[in-house]
Amino acid sequence: MYIALGDLKRKAGSVFQGPITHSISSNRMEKLVITGGQPLRGSLTVAGSKNTALALLTGALMAEGTSTIANVPRVRDVRTLAQIMEFTGAKVDIPDAGPLVVHAERVIFPEAPYELVKKMRASFYMLGALLGRFGTARVSLPGGCAWGPRPVDLHIEGMKAFGAEIDLEQGYVIARAPKGRLPGGSFRLEPSSVGATINLLLAAVRATGPSRIENAASEPDVIVFGEALQQMGAKIAGLGTRTIEIEGVEALHPAAIVNCPDRIELGTFMIAAAIAGPPGGSVRIDNAEHRHLGGAFKDAFARAGIRVDYHDGHIVVHTPEVILPTDIETAIYPGFPTDLQAQWSVLMARAAGTSRVTDTIYIDRFNHIPELQRMGLRARVEGNAVRIEGGQQLTGAQVMSSDLRASVSLVLAGLIARGETHVLRVYHLDRGYENLEAKLRAAGVAIYREQYDEFAMPEPPEG
Ligand code: EPZ
Repeated sequence: MYIALGDLKRKAGSVFQGPITHSISSNRMEKLVITGGQPLRGSLTVAGSKNTALALLTGALMAEGTSTIANVPRVRDVRTLAQIMEFTGAKVDIPDAGPLVVHAERVIFPEAPYELVKKMRASFYMLGALLGRFGTARVSLPGGCAWGPRPVDLHIEGMKAFGAEIDLEQGYVIARAPKGRLPGGSFRLEPSSVGATINLLLAAVRATGPSRIENAASEPDVIVFGEALQQMGAKIAGLGTRTIEIEGVEALHPAAIVNCPDRIELGTFMIAAAIAGPPGGSVRIDNAEHRHLGGAFKDAFARAGIRVDYHDGHIVVHTPEVILPTDIETAIYPGFPTDLQAQWSVLMARAAGTSRVTDTIYIDRFNHIPELQRMGLRARVEGNAVRIEGGQQLTGAQVMSSDLRASVSLVLAGLIARGETHVLRVYHLDRGYENLEAKLRAAGVAIYREQYDEFAMPEPPEG
């Protein structure tokens, strides 16, 4: 039974009046309260990759039928994307545990509205998915993000190169395949882009002819996503290289897909273990796919003098007596991930000397530094780099989250700070880390979540 468009629009309207779990216009917010100095003990377990899960979800829209996706973290970004997918008429079941189920047989409304897209940039993958499946799409341009503009020009120029007619109207991208299906084409990404590679794969897999993406991203997220599309019947060659070739097919079929572990959470936990592990001991990290870290991150860990045993499925980080100051510079895979540069700065706060952390992907991704300076970090931002003076004892403070990775660097700092750290606006963290405080508490950390009133005025001192 098809939902009539009018019913769907009314239904969609309800999406906006539904219970708002986290309206930041209300005073009630949540924070994490961490008492530093407790050594980590035992093990930490990595969840499924948030970024790969978002691509896999939009990929499931490409096949008429029901697909399942296993190892998906229950984080806010996944729930937001599920809402956006349901706006099109799809149904996304998110059980408490086990695979997500995507019913894509009733996708009839090829639109992704601003009210939902503004929450999360990866929603822009809906452009490629809806254009690839239906030959038409109306998707809101994503907004910026916490650290500045995040253009999507490569996504749009690439779709045009594959034969799409694109108009921009009132903040929406209106895309059409003139003859109902894209003919396909060739496009070079400059700079290489994870999101644009994913979006162009979505648009090209059902084209009537061949397509090529040059200077494509080779992050594990892209490889795992491309392999899932192959599982659904797509014809793709060159995944993991700089040139990906796609032979369009008539249709994709549903599949039982398995997501990979989160390489950024893995790197985050490795840094937690290095700065807060038991003296003379070690911390085990489970559900770890270390090959997804890329050589540069593992090399930086070795240069910092931290011994790590890499096994299939898990790793062991030995608590270092001394952390050597180690400069890093982010780059596309297999370079040092930009999503781990904020966390690296906290590791370098414990190093025996001065180091430089440079981001070549995003030149202004340093919102965490002023917050860490409130905790006593001696650091100076110089252009797209920050110089960190190591060997400091941080002290607990109230600090403000600003984006996903900056927030988790504040939690890492709280693990080693003297006294209590309150990490405010933890909804940023909830976007991408599943049950973080439960995992850390199980590993011996004194951490709990608490509500607070964002606009409460402090009581004046007595007397
Ligand atoms: C993905 O974002 C990740 N997000 C980001 O992780 C990650 O930081 C980034 O890749 C880089 O690794 C998801 O996967 C959902 P890009 P994406 O396109 O695809 C420029 C997190 O914390 N660019 O690879 O948006 C862009 O400005 C998030 O989990 C254009 O110029 O990143 C940047 O300098 C944050 N035009 C560079 O390319 C475009 O059209 C790489 O960005 C697109 C990108």
